[in-house]
Amino acid sequence: MSETFIPFHVPDVGEEEIASVVETLRSGGLTTGPKVKKFEDDFGRFVGSSYAIAVNSGTAALHLALDAIGIEEGDEVIVPTMTFTATAEVVLYFKAKPVLVDCQPDTLNIDPGQIDSAITPKTKAIMPVDFGGQPCDYDAILEIARRRGLKVIEDAAHALPASYKGDKVGAISDITCFSFYATKTITTGEGGMATTENPEWADRMRMMSLHGISKDAWKRYTAEGSWYYEVHSPGYKYNLTDVAAALGLVQLAKCERFYEDRKRIAATYNTAFAEITEIERPSVQPEREHAWHLYILKLNPGRLRIGRNEFIEALKQRNIGTSVHFIPLHLHPYYRDTFGYQKCDFANASAAFERIVSLPIFPGLGDERIERVIEAVRDVAREYRQ
Ligand SMILES: Cc1ncc(COP(=O)(O)O)c(C=O)c1O
Repeated sequence: MSETFIPFHVPDVGEEEIASVVETLRSGGLTTGPKVKKFEDDFGRFVGSSYAIAVNSGTAALHLALDAIGIEEGDEVIVPTMTFTATAEVVLYFKAKPVLVDCQPDTLNIDPGQIDSAITPKTKAIMPVDFGGQPCDYDAILEIARRRGLKVIEDAAHALPASYKGDKVGAISDITCFSFYATKTITTGEGGMATTENPEWADRMRMMSLHGISKDAWKRYTAEGSWYYEVHSPGYKYNLTDVAAALGLVQLAKCERFYEDRKRIAATYNTAFAEITEIERPSVQPEREHAWHLYILKLNPGRLRIGRNEFIEALKQRNIGTSVHFIPLHLHPYYRDTFGYQKCDFANASAAFERIVSLPIFPGLGDERIERVIEAVRDVAREYRQ
């Protein structure tokens, strides 16, 4: 036990990010300004989307997206149960109802085959989540949306950079929402981005991200700006700061390199775990580029004498940090008690939850620590084999 603990995640923030933030602080640019504008431009170009709106969290991006498409009290929105609470919570901001849908047992993405039966005359949108970084089945989801007259708001908090049949995530759905939270594939500490091809939705999201006041209000204290502004709607305070964007710009420039690193770690894990029958490796569907934000193992319960919690504890004893993504929404007290969900409602998500463990995967993990993770998994599987 002399080896140091390997945390589940360590953000990769280097001297370039520090210099960029310091330079921004020295320039006096603290809140929204030219760095945010450049971050939006670079990000839009990176994912191939015409409009990119930077905000201070992925949750804010999801909230603004639902506002832009006109979600109202009493509406229903399809949300996978296998997600973080942010995806569903923003629906509740409108006094609308998140209608949960089960996941596919292999990818853990929303099961398109179960969406149609969850749609009612009140349904306005589908919010697929690219779980762990793997894009959902967008041919099927977009076909359902078109046929039923629904909008698709993609929660791509895990999916930068990822692609589906050659199209980058960020340029597939009606609006796509990214997160730059500290553990995400690029970070601004806290932050998010919404991308769309629709200029009206882009204008609305931009306006609502800053109190609902008229366009370019952020310039009002600069030489280009004017003191005059108009309030068009009671908006929110969701604008990103230049300090955060200064960090984001450098992270975005490193995004491909980070991605290569995560892909390599996933490939190394996949090869090493191929012969360990006590565990199942992540399932990746064809024609998809997986962002590998998460590397999720599934335990094979019939082959192990211990459950998921003990497996995590055994890895911890071997100095390996892990996590669980996610506790499905229908198992949380709020969603269970408010909507009357039961464990048996979503068989795939409930069963998967008992089996999933997320391993460390981040740029800079390094060969020595990758090997230690692999050795620890192998050791626990061997020790607790049935
Ligand atoms: C699937 C998913 N959606 C949305 C969010 C919210 O992102 P943020 O923390 O930037 O608000 C997260 C954050 O962990 C997430 O995992």
